Formats: sequence, C-alpha cells, structure tokens
Amino acid sequence: MSLTVHPGPGPRGTVTPPGDKSITHRALLLGLISGESVRVVGGNPGADCAATRSCAEALGATARFEDGAWHMLGGTLREPAGPLDCGNSGTTLRLLAGVLAGQPFRSQLFGDASLLRRPVDRVIAPLRLMGATLTASAGDRLPPLSITGAKLRGIEYQLPVASAQVASCLLFAGMFAEGRTCVRVPGPARDHTERMLRAAGVVLEWEDLAGGAREVAVVGPCRAHGLEVAVPGDFSSAAFFLAAAAATPGARVRASSVGLNPSRTGLLDVLEAMGAEVERGALREAAGEPVGGVTVTGPDRLRPFDIPAGWLPRLIDEVPAWAIAATAASGTSRLSGAGELRVKESDRLELIASNLLRLGIVARAAGDTLEISGGRPEGG
Ligand code: S3P
Repeated sequence: MSLTVHPGPGPRGTVTPPGDKSITHRALLLGLISGESVRVVGGNPGADCAATRSCAEALGATARFEDGAWHMLGGTLREPAGPLDCGNSGTTLRLLAGVLAGQPFRSQLFGDASLLRRPVDRVIAPLRLMGATLTASAGDRLPPLSITGAKLRGIEYQLPVASAQVASCLLFAGMFAEGRTCVRVPGPARDHTERMLRAAGVVLEWEDLAGGAREVAVVGPCRAHGLEVAVPGDFSSAAFFLAAAAATPGARVRASSVGLNPSRTGLLDVLEAMGAEVERGALREAAGEPVGGVTVTGPDRLRPFDIPAGWLPRLIDEVPAWAIAATAASGTSRLSGAGELRVKESDRLELIASNLLRLGIVARAAGDTLEISGGRPEGG
C-alpha cells in the first residue's frame, strides 16, 4: 500500500478521539472479575481491546453490545478451553496475567509475532513471589506465558521500571491474594487501574512520593462493585493532531472530550515548553478520570527542548507525536533514559529515527537516547 501526502495549510479544527484504550482494557477486565455488571460506554473500538474482550469471554464472562455500550458480566472465572490470544496487546497480556495468577486453574497467554518479542519477566518475578507458578519462552523472558494459578499471598514490591502495566498486574493479583499487596511505582506511570478500582469500591492505600513515584496497596481478597464507565477520549490518539498544530505556525487544534489524566498528558507540558500555546478547558470527572477539552496553537517559532528523563512515563506513548513537533523546532531536541521505548510493539526509538532520516531530517537513536535536529527537510 502507498499513501501520498501533499503539503497543505496547517491544521485547524476539532478532533474527537475514540475511547481511551487503556481505560477500556481495564473496564473490560473489571467486568471479568467483579461479579456485577460493568457497562463500558464509548469503549475503544480497536483490535487490542477486542482481544481483551474475547479473552474475558474465554474465561467465562459474557459480553453483550447494546445501546452503544458493552455490558460485561463475569465473577467466577473458568479454565479456558485453550491458549488465550492477546493479539498485539501487551496490556491485555500483562494485566490478565495478574488476574490469572490468582485463579485455581492453568492458562496460557500468547499473541502475534510482535507480542512474542516483548518481555514478560517483569510480571513473572513478582507473581512468583506471590505464589503462582509461571513459565515462558527464552529462559522465562518472552511469551507464550504459562500460568498455574494459586492461593496468592500479598507482597511488597518495588517495580524496577515505572510501568503501569506491571503495577496494574500486581494490583489485580493483590485482589485475589491473602493479605496486603503493596506496589511502589518509581515514576509517574499512568494510574487508571487505581482510579477505576477506587470508583468500583475497592479500598486502596495510595501515597504520592517525590518525583511522581507512588506507593499503592490493596488488601485481599476483595471484590469490585459493578460500574458504568464512560470512557474518555484517548489522549494518545489526539496527540498527533495536537503535535501537528504545535509544529505549524498559526495552526490551532482542539481535542474535545479527551482524557486529561495528568499521568498521560506530559506531551502538553513538552509542547508548552517548546513555545506552543496550550489551553486546557474545564474538567469533569468520569469513573474517577478527568475529562475535558484542550486546544493547541502553533507558535511562529518552536523552540527545541530536552525532555527530562523523569517525564517519560507521562508521555510514553506520545513520543512519536513529539518527534513530529521536534522536526519543526529550530535546533536539536533530545529525549534520554528512554530504553523502554525499544521494547514496545516495535523499537520506537529506532523506527522514529530511521523514518525521519528517510525524510531528510537529522535524527539519531543511540542506546536509550533520541536526538532530533529540527528545521526544514531537504527539498521541503
Ligand atoms: C499502558 C501502559 C504503558 C503504555 C501502553 C499502555 C497501560 O506501558 O506504553 O501502551 O495501559 O497500562 P508500560 O506500563 O509498559 O510503560
């Protein structure tokens, strides 16, 4: 397939992104475990969330689409008839691993070629400490991930990386464990699971620590109530349009009804630091999540900016969008401490740099660093 793009005037207008993918995954899993109906309104329509839904069905939940919403009903999980296909979705695999570790049966999680290259040792280690038996390929590093569930015990665990997927995995496991499971997240990773569990009546201890770190604990075994989750628009989808506006003098894009959870909106802070005008509208709350409108206006001249390493978890999925803005800045922008981006669905550092190079833009990925020199592309 080929797609030809012609230069045009800067973008102006409003985008209403599809439902947030991360929140949709969590709402579907809540429906799998809660025992009361969970209604997911405006859920993300993509293949990743469909994978979570079909895994939930294979584990005994019923999923019904009615009046524009998914109605999930689960409660007691049953042993699946075969391996659970997570498709391309690392979130499905890692979050579900936490649920499955606490079930009295065996299961196996696998996915597509890209998912089979993504690390699972980060969930195996703590879930083993909780008492489950887990094995995986390549010396227990890569999927397929086989789980023999057990009566879990609570643990205290310091995550080596600020990963929301791992934190969420352990909080789900903690709901099935005996005693207190305490997770220390070393940076400002997204906190959707914590917010949703609280909205569903689960008691969490939650302490914010210096540098955006947090400590969250749940005492198990415990159950979540049913809930209606009005899924906010996906900030990660809106990010490309907002970055395009920042990159073009005079362009102006508004994203409406978008999730503005501060653990997701690091890109806005970066665009502001580069000189773009960012207006955040009034916020309302949906299932514990802040939702609102945000408008970005492109300045006459965008400044380059070095993203501090501690900011990365708040824009972990928006770095490709930031890279577009960085190409329009007058100088070199840098991101460091970003090794995590090499173990996503693709090696994002390498692919951003190589695709920008193909467009005539000076970009370099080395180790955990990405450097982009902005300006006009050759022949542009
Ligand atoms: C996600 C967490 C992030 C993110 C991923 C979705 C989530 O991954 O990159 O796209 O929904 O919890 P990590 O937790 O591994 O950083």
